[in-house]
Order: sequence, then C-alpha cells, then structure tokens
Amino acid sequence: MSKANIGVVGLAVMGSNLARNLASRAGNSVAIYNRSVDKTEALVAQHPEANFIASETIDEFVASLSTPRTAIIMVQAGAGTDAVISALAERFEEGDIIVDGGNALYTDTIRREKEVSQKGIHFVGAGISGGEEGALKGPSIMPGGTKESYETLGPILASIAAVAEGEPCVTHVGTDGAGHFVKMIHNGIEYADMQLIAEAYDILRQAGGLSPMEVSGVLENWNKGELESYLIEITAEVLSQVDAKTGKPLVDVILDAAGSKGTGVWTVQSALDLGTPVSGIAEAVFARSLSSQSAQRKAAPTFSAGTTSWDIADQAAFIESVRKALYASKIVAYAQGFDAIRAGAAENNWEINLGAVAKIWRGGCIIRAQFLNRISDAYGKNEQLVSLLFDDYFTKAIEDAAASWREVVAKASLAGIPVPAFASSLSYFDGLRATRLPAALVQGQRDFFGAHTYKRVDMPGTFHTLWSGDKSEIRTD
Ligand code: 6PG
Repeated sequence: MSKANIGVVGLAVMGSNLARNLASRAGNSVAIYNRSVDKTEALVAQHPEANFIASETIDEFVASLSTPRTAIIMVQAGAGTDAVISALAERFEEGDIIVDGGNALYTDTIRREKEVSQKGIHFVGAGISGGEEGALKGPSIMPGGTKESYETLGPILASIAAVAEGEPCVTHVGTDGAGHFVKMIHNGIEYADMQLIAEAYDILRQAGGLSPMEVSGVLENWNKGELESYLIEITAEVLSQVDAKTGKPLVDVILDAAGSKGTGVWTVQSALDLGTPVSGIAEAVFARSLSSQSAQRKAAPTFSAGTTSWDIADQAAFIESVRKALYASKIVAYAQGFDAIRAGAAENNWEINLGAVAKIWRGGCIIRAQFLNRISDAYGKNEQLVSLLFDDYFTKAIEDAAASWREVVAKASLAGIPVPAFASSLSYFDGLRATRLPAALVQGQRDFFGAHTYKRVDMPGTFHTLWSGDKSEIRTD
C-alpha cells in the first residue's frame, strides 16, 4: 500500500481545507483522520480528485504514514488537542513529527514539546493564519519546534503556504512555543488593526455624516495607498453589504457586541507579564469587552456629556486627517506587537528574526498588507532597531501624520465619539518621546507609603526619604 508523506487529524473546516491544500500540491499524498468517520467520508466523497488516504481509526492513520511520520493536528485548542497528541505520541517513533496547527497558547506548546520530545518525537506548534480560505489556498504559517523537524516539515509547509513577492509565507520562527507565540501576537495586532479601522469608520460616519456605502468607497480609495491591506479591503466589502431582509446596510442590523475566541486576551496577558506596553492591542480587547457589556450599556443613563459638535468645513481634508490618524495609530500597534515579540524571544531564549516574521505576514494571513514590506525593510536594515517608530520611514510617516492624529483624537473626544485605540496609540507615542515622565512622581509616592525606594538622576545608588521622620534622604543599597 502506498503511504502518505503527511497526515491531517481533525477535519472541521480548517482541517479539511488544509488537507485539500496539501493534497493539491504535487508530490503530496495526505493521510486523513477524524474522530467521527462521517466527516472523513464526506471529505473523500466531495473531493474524489484529492490524493487522500482515509482512515477510520488512529492506528490505521498512523500505519498509513511514511517515515518520518508527520501529522498536523487541526482540532480545537485545549483538551482535545492534548488527547490527540497523546494518542499520536503513543504510536509514533523517534524522529516522527507532531504538528499542532491550532491556535494553542504558547505556554501549552512549550509544555507539550517538553513532554513529547522525551520520546524523541518532534513537537511543532505552528501558527496558521488566513482563515478558511487561507487554509485552502495558502495561509501564512508560523512553525516553532526544532530546526531538525523543519528540515522535513519546511518543504511541505512551503508547498502550501501563501506566496508573497515570490517567497513562501513560512519560516522557522524559533524553537518550542515560538511559532504559537508569534501567531498570538499576530492575532493581537489583528485585533488592534480591526479596532482602529472600526474607529475610523465611526468617526467618518458620526462626525462626517458618511453612509456605510460612502465609507466603503473611502476605504476602497485608502486601499490604493499606504493603508493597502486585506482588512481594509474586507471592511469596504462589509460596509457595502445591504441586508436582504430589511434593505438596510448590513452593518446596521448586526448587533454591536463583538465576540472573541481569546487570542487577543492572551496577547495582552503575556505582554503584561513581559512588561511590554501593548496599549493599542489592550484597548482593542477592552473595546470588544465594553461592546459586550449589554447590562451596563442598557442601564447607562442619558448623560449630559459636555460634547460639542465637530464642524467640518472641508470634507476631503477631514477624511484625509482620519486616514493619517489611522495610519499613525496602526504603526504604533505594529511597533508594540513587534516589541512584544522581541520581549517574548528574550524571555524564552528564542532567536526570532523580526524581519522574517514581517515577511511571512505579507501574504495569506489576516493582517497581510504592503506595509509589512516596510517593517521587514526596517528590521533588515537594523536588526537591533529599538522600536519600529525609530526607523526613518516610520519616523517620517508619524511626523507627517502627527498634527492630523492629534486633531482627530481631540475632536473625537470633544464630539463624544469613543476612540480608545486611536487615543491610546497617540498617548503611547507621546509617552515614548517625552523627555521626562510623571513616573518620577509615582516613584516618590511609592517611596512615601511603602519605602519602595527610588533612584536619582544625578548620582548612582538607591534612596529612600524618611517621610515620617525628619525627611532626610538615606542611601539604601
Ligand atoms: C487567523 C485569525 C484566526 C481567527 C482568530 C481570531 O489568523 O486566521 O486570527 O486565527 O480569526 O481566531 O478570532 P477572534 O476574533 O474570534 O478572537
């Protein structure tokens, strides 16, 4: 019996599409297995052209793989993943490769890699982005795990990945959980990007009086310039959609309570642990939480909120200001995301090439955009770049946008339009460029009530003021 060079476990939409993508590439034959057989049978029946080797049991599945056995797990993250990993690990042999292609928490991936590698089996946590269509036609793939496993896995993944400017959107991100960590940050950036676009839409609509269809047209225009991206493109489509039942813009009949599956929350939790400010991402996560607090929102009284109207003399100039504010805020969101990757890499001893990460996000994934070429150029020029904002291209972009950015945030606040991600990105920028921050005062407060000590600007050492005594200063180190 001929054997498969790659297998897929879990045949829900993402798994089926990935299996079909693999089977469509020359040289691949794909073993498939799903806990309930009907999904396997349906996939085989719907795609007789595909080079599938279907199995009804996990034993058959394992037996149908050539060595080194390589299987990609596409089941829901959590307990289900652990169950499949242990079933495979019991049957696999030294040198075989288990890939988790779900959105797993990277610390789970680190744990699983430790466990599985004890048997000499490679465990690779691979972030896969691009949704259902990406899985089928070419996702962006972020594998972790050992370098050795990538020798086998790399060519297979490269054969199914999206291609951007001639290069496959896959790279060995780093060891153990690095791939899932980077995918998590990708999703955090995705949240920020989406929230920023939503805020821009809200301003254009509430302050500018544009209809959803008109905002769609504006976004189509923006998509021809430096904001060109998949998310801008699909937002234009969503806004142009008319609800068949009511004839209203679809966006007006969708409940304004945004859900989430948790990867944005993980990004913020991890960044808090790493001490990396990802304020734009955090605001995007909280904006979804606020939108879903239906009890509070329903109970909110009609406040006299002190708002003033936003007078727009020149509609074209107004739209351009919003565009610039969006672009500057987006740069901040990406700068924060890449900072978090660098911090995660340092914490976990991963060697992550930030320029290579930007490159594999240029195609296939949800945040794909022209803009990522600029990021990859920036890190290509200077791998040690302290912040993306300090690269010449981005510095200039921010400087060009700064006045409009301030105007938009200020006027939105005056008009009572919530812009948490725009405003926090601007404050982050101002915090970063401030020569003195009020953190000095916070240190003074901490020293006052908790003797937490402080450092001085003019001499080395650690100091404490005897606040309840004669207020003299003592050196404590
Ligand atoms: C992708 C997406 C995908 C998904 C996330 C986020 O890269 O293909 O990020 O992983 O959209 O699950 O979804 P939520 O918005 O539901 O958290």
